[in-house]
Amino acid sequence: MNDEWYERRKRKLREMYWGKEKNPFLPSGFREYPQEIYDFFLSFIDHPGKVIDLGCGNGLLLRHLVENSRYELIPYGVDFIEESIEQAKREILPEFATNFTVANVRDYVKMMPDEYFDFIFFDPYHLHPNDLQEAVEHVIRACKPGGKVIFYTYRDVLRVLRVLNLFKLRWIGWVGDLLPDNIRKNLRRFDHSEVSVGVFEKEKGKSNNNLEF
Ligand SMILES: C[S@@+](CC[C@H](N)C(=O)[O-])C[C@H]1O[C@@H](n2cnc3c(N)ncnc32)[C@H](O)[C@@H]1O
Repeated sequence: MNDEWYERRKRKLREMYWGKEKNPFLPSGFREYPQEIYDFFLSFIDHPGKVIDLGCGNGLLLRHLVENSRYELIPYGVDFIEESIEQAKREILPEFATNFTVANVRDYVKMMPDEYFDFIFFDPYHLHPNDLQEAVEHVIRACKPGGKVIFYTYRDVLRVLRVLNLFKLRWIGWVGDLLPDNIRKNLRRFDHSEVSVGVFEKEKGKSNNNLEF
């Protein structure tokens, strides 16, 4: 279901990232290296472990985390654009090539092992709204107790969504507004000028923080 929606988005993104313009940062959605934004993401990493970026582009964010964190991190990445994953494997993080997968995030999250990842970066905008609830449940399931799910959406995307949703009388102010109510209520909100973040901390000793799905 919704396959056509994902295909359309993938085609559009592939044209943007892998069209005529050659720029090493484009397959991650940037024209210049986003040092400040990536340092902001880095600030959420507070222990060693496995980190996955669901919609990783060519793996630039993951490499930034691995190279700049004071904790030892094992990176994993998923993207539905084959060229981007190929570049991540070949050029960006070749020593972790086997941890990169070409897949739709919607499908990949269903196969993630229970309580496996310490840090999960997840942008709800990557999913069709009808797939979001189930995907979020899987993401929380796959997060290790004591770990974090870092929900994020870039501000340029949020601005577009805000305008579109005004017609539906729905206010989109931050990433939490894209997520199910029970999740939003459990997020710590962080406002950066370029990206909106909501962090879900999975408590130790509880399988899903008593969230009712
Ligand atoms: C703007 S880039 C962000 C890359 C990286 N996470 C970062 O912040 O630098 C978003 C990436 O998500 C990927 N993406 C979007 N929807 C996806 C989906 N449903 N499944 C897999 N990848 C998806 C796009 O192909 C693109 O490479």
